[in-house]
Amino acid sequence: MVHMNILITGAAGFVGFHSAKRLLSRGHRIVGVDNLNSYYDVRLKHERLTHLRGNTRFEFHELNLADRDGMRELFRTNSFDVVLHLGAQAGVRYSIEQPFAYIDSNVVGMLSVLEGCRHSGVKHLVYASSSSVYGANTKQPFSIEDRTDDPVSLYAATKKSDELMCRTYAHLYRLPSTGLRFFTVYGPFGRPDMAYYKFADAITAGRAIDVYNHGNMKRDFTYVDDIVDCIEVIVEREPSSSKDATPHRVYNLGNNRPERVLTLVGLLEEHLGVSARVNLLPMQPGDVEATYADIEATRRDFGFAPKVSLSVGIQKFAEWYLARRDGLAASR
Ligand SMILES: NC(=O)c1ccc[n+]([C@@H]2O[C@H](COP(=O)([O-])OP(=O)(O)OC[C@H]3O[C@@H](n4cnc5c(N)ncnc54)[C@H](O)[C@@H]3O)[C@@H](O)[C@H]2O)c1
Repeated sequence: MVHMNILITGAAGFVGFHSAKRLLSRGHRIVGVDNLNSYYDVRLKHERLTHLRGNTRFEFHELNLADRDGMRELFRTNSFDVVLHLGAQAGVRYSIEQPFAYIDSNVVGMLSVLEGCRHSGVKHLVYASSSSVYGANTKQPFSIEDRTDDPVSLYAATKKSDELMCRTYAHLYRLPSTGLRFFTVYGPFGRPDMAYYKFADAITAGRAIDVYNHGNMKRDFTYVDDIVDCIEVIVEREPSSSKDATPHRVYNLGNNRPERVLTLVGLLEEHLGVSARVNLLPMQPGDVEATYADIEATRRDFGFAPKVSLSVGIQKFAEWYLARRDGLAASR
C-alpha cells in the first residue's frame, strides 16, 4: 500500500478522531486541523487528540476552517495527497439557535478547503455530507437517486450546499471528490449532543429523557467502525476523471437497518445497568421521522457491509461511557 499524506479536518471530532486513528494504523501521515470550539465539552476533544498525539506521524494545527489566510498557508506548506474533510458545525437543532455558525464552518469552511485543494493539486477530496439532505423525503429507503432539494433545517441546507460546491469544483477544475452522507453515527468517544449520549447522561444521573414524536422516530444508527472501514477504502479510490465528465460522487453510509428510538433506550438501560424514565413528546422543528439508507451503490463500489448491530454497538459505547465517567470522577 502507498502511504499518503492526508489532511483531516475536524480531527478532534468524533468521526475525525476514529478516522485519523485508523489511517495512522495503516501507515499514512496525518495532519489534523480543528478549531476546538465549545459546541460540546471540549475536554472530550482534547482526550481524542491526546490519543492521536501518541503517534509521531500525527501533527495537529488549531485552526478555523473559515480563516482564509490560515487555510491558504496550511495548503501552501504541506503537500496533501488526500483531504478528508469532516470538520463542520454539526447538529440539526442548534442550527435553529446559531444559524451563522453553520454558514461560517460549513459553507465558508468548505470553500476554504476547495480552494486549498484546487491550488495544491490534491488528488481526492472526501467530505462529510449527511442523511439530513433527504429532508422531507418520505420514500424509504433513501437512495442517492432521490431528490434532495427539500431540506428541513439550515444544517441540511449547508450540507446540500457542500455537495453542490464540490460538484462545481469537480466540473470546473477536475478536482475529484466523494461526498459521504452519514446516517446517525454512534460509538465510543461519540458526540455528547446526540440523543444516545444525552440519554446516557440523563439515565445515569436519574433524570427523565425526552423522546420526540411520542417514541415513533426511527433512525438508521451506524456504528463508527463500520463508517471508518469504508472511509479507509474510499480515500484511495477517487472518481475517475477519464470516464466521468464530472469526477464527483455521493454515497450513503448507513446501517441499512432503521431501529426505533425506544429500542435504543432499552439497550442503553440494559448496558448501563439503570432504568430510564421517559417523557414522550411531539416532533421537534427540523427533525425527520425516519431515516433509512439505501447502501447498494456503496456496497457495489467499495464493498461497504456494516457489521455491527445496534445491540453490540451500544454495548461498546456503554462500556466506554462508564469507564470514562469513572476515570473523570477519580481524577476530581
Ligand atoms: N455523527 C453523525 O451522526 C453525523 C451524521 C451526519 C453527518 N455528520 C457529519 O460528519 C462530520 C463529522 O461529524 P462528527 O460527528 O465527528 O462531529 P464533531 O462535532 O464531533 O466533529 C466536527 C469537528 O469539527 C470541528 N469544527 C467545527 N467547526 C470548525 C471550524 N470552523 N474550523 C475548524 N474546526 C471546526 C469541531 O471542533 C469538531 O471537533 C461533520 O461534517 C458532520 O456534519 C455526522
